[in-house]
Amino acid sequence: MVTGDTWQSLSDRVIAVVRSQVRRVRRRLAGSGDPFEVFLTSEALAINQARQDHLASLELDLNGKTVLEVGAGIGLHTKFFEDRECSVLCTDGRPENVAELLRRYPHRRAQVLDLDEVGDLSALGMFDVVYCYGLLYHLSRPEQALQALARVCREMILLETCVTPGEEVALHPEAEDAWNPNQASSGLGCRPTRPWVMAMLKKHFGHAYISATQPRHPDFDLTWAQPISKPLHRAVFVGAKAPLANAHLRPALMMQQVHDLAATTRG
Ligand SMILES: C[S@@+](CC[C@H](N)C(=O)[O-])C[C@H]1O[C@@H](n2cnc3c(N)ncnc32)[C@H](O)[C@@H]1O
Repeated sequence: MVTGDTWQSLSDRVIAVVRSQVRRVRRRLAGSGDPFEVFLTSEALAINQARQDHLASLELDLNGKTVLEVGAGIGLHTKFFEDRECSVLCTDGRPENVAELLRRYPHRRAQVLDLDEVGDLSALGMFDVVYCYGLLYHLSRPEQALQALARVCREMILLETCVTPGEEVALHPEAEDAWNPNQASSGLGCRPTRPWVMAMLKKHFGHAYISATQPRHPDFDLTWAQPISKPLHRAVFVGAKAPLANAHLRPALMMQQVHDLAATTRG
């Protein structure tokens, strides 16, 4: 029998395929513009640098791990793990991003993974670490994605996301531009509160932490009690299968954070 859920899933897939084809046609008609430029702007490169300086400053044990990178875009973050001799499987929901990633980095392993469509990810194998930076807020069903990722994760998820300031546990769905290669492929994302993220990490991974420090970039707030009015508010979380003894992580949310030391020394 065909259930309502099956129809919904089928029609979601048809819409995704039609959107992907329309995107390709629009790009051809647009001619010379680089469709991946959005990943390569000076702003995008600057926030990438700030995020990865910050991640390094957390002094997590990341050397030699197996890593599942989700929402990898065109692969600009992966070198961080290659430098630490990790074995990385890069994934992204958009086939065109995965193709561009492999064109740029033919030595990498990469495949399409739409995290709005996931159920069982066990065919991918098990990973020590899931790296989920810049993706969660582009998902329409982020809790289902975290649950699926937790099942293939042995140790921890490194999670950076846009959030909505607030003390309630709330998801705050948000429409996004599905035509943009770095936005939600479904056209529906979310801006969860920090308590929502902590609650979901605890529920699906067992242990939830927020970094005491923030990357040195204006999107990452330091003061949460009276947040500055601006388009994006970001924070960094770690979900772990076992308790982590790490001086840079806190099991409860702080209303005041500071910049990471690595960024401070960089000036
Ligand atoms: C803002 S980019 C992030 C790229 C990189 N991780 C970073 O932080 O700079 C968001 C990425 O998520 C991907 N994405 C959007 N919706 C997705 C979905 N449902 N499943 C998996 N990836 C998705 C986009 O294709 C895009 O590459």
